[in-house]
Amino acid sequence: MSGAKVLVVDAGGRGNAIAHAFAKSPLVERVYVAPGNAGSSMIEKCEIALSKGGPLKEIPGLVSFAKKEEVGLTFVGPEGYLSEGIVNVFCDEGLDAIGPRREATILEGSKCDTKDFLKAIGVPIPPHRNFSNPQEAIEYAAAFYQENPNKNLVVKADGLAAGKGSIVCSSAEEAISAIERIMVEPRLFGEAGRRVEIEERLEGKELMFFAVTDGRTVHPLESAMDYKRAFGPGEEVAIRLYNRLAGNPNLDHNPNTGGMGGYSPHPWLDGELAERIMETIAVPTIRGLREKTGSEYRGMIYFGLMISEEEGERVPRVLEINVRLGDPEAEVILPRLKTDMYLLSRAILDGKLDSVELKWSPDYCVGVCAISGRVVKPVTSGGVGEERPGYPGPHYTNMPIRGLDNIDPDVLVYHNGTAFGTDVQGNEQLYTTGGRVLTVVGRGASLAAARDRAYENIKRIRFNGIRYRRDIGLTS
Ligand code: AMP
Ligand code: GLY
Repeated sequence: MSGAKVLVVDAGGRGNAIAHAFAKSPLVERVYVAPGNAGSSMIEKCEIALSKGGPLKEIPGLVSFAKKEEVGLTFVGPEGYLSEGIVNVFCDEGLDAIGPRREATILEGSKCDTKDFLKAIGVPIPPHRNFSNPQEAIEYAAAFYQENPNKNLVVKADGLAAGKGSIVCSSAEEAISAIERIMVEPRLFGEAGRRVEIEERLEGKELMFFAVTDGRTVHPLESAMDYKRAFGPGEEVAIRLYNRLAGNPNLDHNPNTGGMGGYSPHPWLDGELAERIMETIAVPTIRGLREKTGSEYRGMIYFGLMISEEEGERVPRVLEINVRLGDPEAEVILPRLKTDMYLLSRAILDGKLDSVELKWSPDYCVGVCAISGRVVKPVTSGGVGEERPGYPGPHYTNMPIRGLDNIDPDVLVYHNGTAFGTDVQGNEQLYTTGGRVLTVVGRGASLAAARDRAYENIKRIRFNGIRYRRDIGLTS
């Protein structure tokens, strides 16, 4: 009997990790990835989904491909496709797809509506107010600071703003300036800032909590510690140079990124806290969503939480929700999954997640992202090199990548932004295509061992401008 064909829709490292997890299933014959990247075709059983020789990006083309190739199951990674309604379209066409329907993506797409929804169903969140009128928002912020001199606010653009739409404030002036920058033309985050959600700034420790659901049963996934800031401890000089080149007035600001690395399992998420999060947040959110939208949420979800210490108890509250797996978190969580990814996915689609027990390897995985850092563009005939600060700011791409043939077989390299091209001699060559380029994942019986494997190998990789944090798995 021939095995199943799976389609993974994702362009990045998360997509590589999902495809790899499916490829490990003995029930899966072939994994197609769209649009994918160079790494997608370097994993056993995996290839890029092509139509007339080119990669597939649009939903109608993906539907035709899935039908033509008799794909049995499609797994969608990023929020962009999900909020476009890819799962709705696939279902209408009679195709099985994992990921929330468009109605549920509001959880990531509107901070105002999400916080209203969570409050209505009793899921703990920081006290919040929504505004569509900047003057009213400013008056509220001014009054808040007068009445609460020891508290602070966070001002959030309502819509999708590439993860940058929240401004954490430390004074009334900062809050008012944040409201003006987000809401008044020229709006800092464009249309996403037509409305703002203003909430109380909480103290505590942040945690990303991942779960999988078929809309009724919710299982926690193993979790990961993530590293969002671009630079690690001791990199003050690099931070100042970065900000000077990026034109940022605050020279000491360590910028946020989509993620610079991570490791799994998480160091302080214990069973008791996980249970509390499941009971007070994950399960009620999925139930509330089913009651609100009338359909079941089938896929992955993660909650950005603040864990506050209150009278000796750890109280989790929701800061944000994402309707997908994180990147690079997926790259360190999924290699530890021992349950068959295909059987797990079928159970999600069939509403039978209650019959599946998730099994995990006790190993640690440490993932370090190699990014496109600062580069002075090599001077070409008569041209003058322009210095760019690197990811998350402006960066160069199209740099040849070398050294991947030197990676030890036990180390995983997931590609975030790469493509094959040809060099001047006409030989096939791997090039950078994005800010995040590769995530190198080391595995070991201890955090230190996994960390050593990742760093021992990442240093063999070379491209112009390569940079990575040195403290993944060392600091928290
Ligand atoms: P968000 O866009 O909601 O994920 O927020 C981005 C970051 O801002 C979070 O990861 C937190 O570090 C911070 N943040 C957001 N909301 C709050 C809050 N209510 N209290 C404290 N920090 C917050
Ligand atoms: N690494 C954070 C995210 O994927 O949103």
